[in-house]
Amino acid sequence: MQDDIRDYRIPEEPYYRAVGEEVELYEAAYAVRMPMMLKGPTGCGKTRFVEYMAWKLDRPLITVACNEDMTASDLVGRYLLDADGTRWQDGPLTLAARHGAICYLDEVVEARQDTVVVIHPLTDNRRVLPLEKKGELVKAHADFQLVISYNPGYQSLMKDLKQSTKQRFGALDFGYPEAEVEREIVTHETGVDGDTAGKLVSVAERARNLKGHGLDEGISTRMLVHAGSLIQRGVPPLAACRMALVRPLTDDPDMRDALDAAVTTFF
Ligand SMILES: Nc1ncnc2c1ncn2[C@@H]1O[C@H](COP(=O)(O)OP(=O)(O)OP(=O)(O)O)[C@@H](O)[C@H]1O
Ligand SMILES: [Mg+2]
Repeated sequence: MQDDIRDYRIPEEPYYRAVGEEVELYEAAYAVRMPMMLKGPTGCGKTRFVEYMAWKLDRPLITVACNEDMTASDLVGRYLLDADGTRWQDGPLTLAARHGAICYLDEVVEARQDTVVVIHPLTDNRRVLPLEKKGELVKAHADFQLVISYNPGYQSLMKDLKQSTKQRFGALDFGYPEAEVEREIVTHETGVDGDTAGKLVSVAERARNLKGHGLDEGISTRMLVHAGSLIQRGVPPLAACRMALVRPLTDDPDMRDALDAAVTTFF
């Protein structure tokens, strides 16, 4: 493997607790090199899943956090000026396509549509990436795959993927795992006992029921892992839950009261 890609290897098996058939389905998608889209709320395991799949499929993983200032050159590459003149530097997408990595575009709807279209020729049967400034047509390596993530619901009409982009992908839905599974994840990630993890999950379930009734988003698995880690370090559970679960989620005083009450119910 080339040096420029070796750093993107995932050295150890990441902990990922499957919640359904997603591992097998993703393997099948990879086998036919279908570009994939992972949909789900923040903190529900999408990134962890991609890391796990890259490890399982034995592919390097190149991740790009998308934002609206990102340009096509940020993905594809650009000429740099150095002492010897100009030198071309591959962007992350080009690097992945050339060397057969999995390229993960995180929060892809944040990117402008004119940036996102650079992935089109890579995600249909052409599997090529034109580097216009360099005058090169990169043929994607046989092992290359593109995977994108997004949180459905956050999109305004202005910020959504075009149908011509969406229809190039297969999609998997992610959500918060069921209580038993989430308890197992929190226990594994933080080291708290099963009883404490179960209480954290119960608080989260209360909060998730308030989504759309004053809360934009429920408490994520990520937040439970934060709270559990604090408790495991010796922070009293009430303080840990306030800091890691309630305060970040909302500024609304009534909602905070309701959530604080849920915390005291279980702890
Ligand atoms: N199925 C799972 N197996 C193992 N850990 C999980 C799982 N789901 C969630 N987690 C835990 O939750 C944390 C957050 O998950 P992750 O970072 O993958 O979220 P995400 O869906 O990528 O969120 P975002 O959309 O904000 O990027 C992980 O670091 C891990 O501790
Ligand atoms: Mg993520």
